[in-house]
Amino acid sequence: MTETTAPASLTAASPELSLDLIITCADGLEAPLQTELTSFGIASEIKSTGRLAVTGTLRDLYSICLWSRVASRVLMLIKRKNINAEYDVAEQLYGLAKSVNWIEQFSLEQTFAIRLSVDKRVAVSQQFAMLRIKDAIADTFNEVYDSRPNVDSKNPDFSIFATVNDKQAELYLDLSGTSLHRRGYRVAMTEAPLKENLAAALLYSAGWHKKNEAGNAPFYNALIDPMCGSGTFIIEALLMHCDYAVGIDKAANQFGFYQWQHHDDALWQQIDDAQTRFREALAIANEQPDTLPLILGFDADSGAILATEKNLIAAGLQDLLPLLDLETRALDQLSTVLKPLVDDGRLSNPLIITNPPYGERLGDEEMIKPLYQAIGLILQDSFAGSGIDPMLGILASNVEQVDILPIKEPKTLRCHNGAITVYFRYGTLIAGQTGNLVSRFEKREIEVEEGQDFINRLQKTCLS
Ligand SMILES: C[S@@+](CC[C@H](N)C(=O)[O-])C[C@H]1O[C@@H](n2cnc3c(N)ncnc32)[C@H](O)[C@@H]1O
Repeated sequence: MTETTAPASLTAASPELSLDLIITCADGLEAPLQTELTSFGIASEIKSTGRLAVTGTLRDLYSICLWSRVASRVLMLIKRKNINAEYDVAEQLYGLAKSVNWIEQFSLEQTFAIRLSVDKRVAVSQQFAMLRIKDAIADTFNEVYDSRPNVDSKNPDFSIFATVNDKQAELYLDLSGTSLHRRGYRVAMTEAPLKENLAAALLYSAGWHKKNEAGNAPFYNALIDPMCGSGTFIIEALLMHCDYAVGIDKAANQFGFYQWQHHDDALWQQIDDAQTRFREALAIANEQPDTLPLILGFDADSGAILATEKNLIAAGLQDLLPLLDLETRALDQLSTVLKPLVDDGRLSNPLIITNPPYGERLGDEEMIKPLYQAIGLILQDSFAGSGIDPMLGILASNVEQVDILPIKEPKTLRCHNGAITVYFRYGTLIAGQTGNLVSRFEKREIEVEEGQDFINRLQKTCLS
């Protein structure tokens, strides 16, 4: 039987000690989470759906809790043991939990809760198995203090997470303590908003976090969301640009590690400079507006633009509002806005990222497909003849919808927006032919006219 145990003597003096961490995320977001962790300088390995393994330090643990836009939870392995699923699994879980010195992890005064995930191949009552883990923890404390900490399943100080499959059982401490992906800025809603952690993940996939070659400016010089709804892409992109720590609100009291006996407050204080970093980044953006990528957010619905503005303010980005271009505009006006910006060089390396209406209802399918076609055509038209190959990333609820997009060597990420399975198709826009054709063949102009008419008609249909 093999056993793995967390380092026995984690102390405040051991910030560099190596911890076995599991970082969880929503299904499908493993690769973007890995990209994010790499951008933090943290190596990780994708273990399974929704789980990445990190061998990290306390500093890494604190950084992930405070800065990760994609992670859901940070769990630290406390003990792992092989089991034999043919014998009494609940008793083996009791034995595993009893072999941990819980007094080193939390105190008698703190409440705790246990969550258990049982693989379907294992025949054990989940309730009973949880009870036996709880008994083991209670017995450990009782043996020393003749008393035990209380269980609080709703709002515990300290959460323990156990997993068991037909070969292994594992015990983890939930050191994030709360779901990391929650943000507080969505005060105004539009229909079908994008989950904030999903928007951040898609921005990582498209490389919004990257710097230029010199490492002193963002890689992209613009972000365009032509159907911005309540503004989630725009807000997440700006928060990323301004180095905003999404865990800032939870830093007040919600992180699980505050309750942990080995929490190193001095180290945490060094890392927890998030407010200062955000303030400084906002000040730089305001004082040197050229350092801020051009942000264009459009929507055919004026209510959506209003919602975007309200949410930007709630996200603490109000100072940047005058620097952003947010307008009520339908898709058919997009190239009118983009072409002059392309001509004067302000869109030399843009990221176009958007989440068109999904079309979930019966009969929507036929209406939605031409919308994706129109997006491709309009963007090709906007950049035709410019020599610019913009990065395009578009979300759809049906992979065939994005198949129609003119993207070179496209990549597709399958993930979920709440209950809906969605596909994010991204890659470089295949350069537009329209400009060349128009200049070479007069007749093609009619084709362009027809194309525009078609788009106008489509607009009406899509918006009615
Ligand atoms: C799924 S929502 C976008 C949600 C957004 N990503 C968010 O997080 O709130 C799609 C948006 O596309 C807009 N829209 C639909 N057809 C449009 C068109 N032809 N031109 C511009 N916007 C359009 C809708 O008004 C809606 O706000």
